Amino acid sequence: MRHLITTKDFHKNEIIELFKEAKEFLDEKPRDFLKEKSITTIFFENSTRTHSSFETAAKRLGAKVLRLDVSKSSSSKGETLYDTAANLDAMSPNAIIIRHANSGVPQILASRMHCPVVNGGDGKHSHPTQALLDLFTIYEHFQGNTEGKKILIVGDIKNSRVASSNIELLSQFGLDITLVAPPHFMPNSSLRKSYHLNKELIENTDIIMSLRTQVERHEKMIYASLKDYANDFCINSKLIQDKKLILLHPGPVNRNIDISDEVMKDQRALILKQVKNGVAIRMAVLKKLILEN
Ligand code: NCD
Repeated sequence: MRHLITTKDFHKNEIIELFKEAKEFLDEKPRDFLKEKSITTIFFENSTRTHSSFETAAKRLGAKVLRLDVSKSSSSKGETLYDTAANLDAMSPNAIIIRHANSGVPQILASRMHCPVVNGGDGKHSHPTQALLDLFTIYEHFQGNTEGKKILIVGDIKNSRVASSNIELLSQFGLDITLVAPPHFMPNSSLRKSYHLNKELIENTDIIMSLRTQVERHEKMIYASLKDYANDFCINSKLIQDKKLILLHPGPVNRNIDISDEVMKDQRALILKQVKNGVAIRMAVLKKLILEN
């Protein structure tokens, strides 16, 4: 049984095939590839975009979706994760999509299930469909020529599962990554690092990926205030001027902390395109895992 827990679960060629399929799904027409199939979503952590994106993707393929309400589920009555998994499995869904605040939970669930498990984000560990949709957005923009393109990943990289999945995936497609963050947000990594976001970096990049400060994962307040952080790392027009580049962000955006209001409206900000691409990518992922397993 194949699952999608990290981006390493798919080979490069499979990802290119997924992109071809996702491109077709961008027409947003309903399909019936997953008619008669049922997909369960179980999100133990807040989500607006990812949850609704998976649900839209599943429905656009004709599947039925069971959205498990975690606040009302038996986990809040003390049921173990293993028992929750066994009970879900007994209902024979065709796929399960899970998000959890603890790293490793989707992997544990996958070992107990008889259907594909898709990781919708686990702790700081991994968010494979987000990285796939980010890469798809880059891939589409540069017409498949990702080799040697320069990307700055800016923000709370250490605590971001989006960053770790992107670092894992983007290098496979030849992107040249520089991590830009203050020391306390910088992970241990052999990649090029910069502790300042300066004009020279901007001059030499093709892509900026801005990330949200993951305050919910900080044990104590690290920056004096988010405003101080914004002074040094917010993507604003003064910084990017008219440089030819594209700007990505997985959302939710903290306006004027991650990205200024002005830049949010800029044509180079592809944030809503990422959301649109996300549905198409998730359609391709669900179709592949359910029909090819
Ligand atoms: C991200 C997440 O939840 O990991 N958001 C998302 O899935 N679109 C990033 C974040 O919360 O900052």
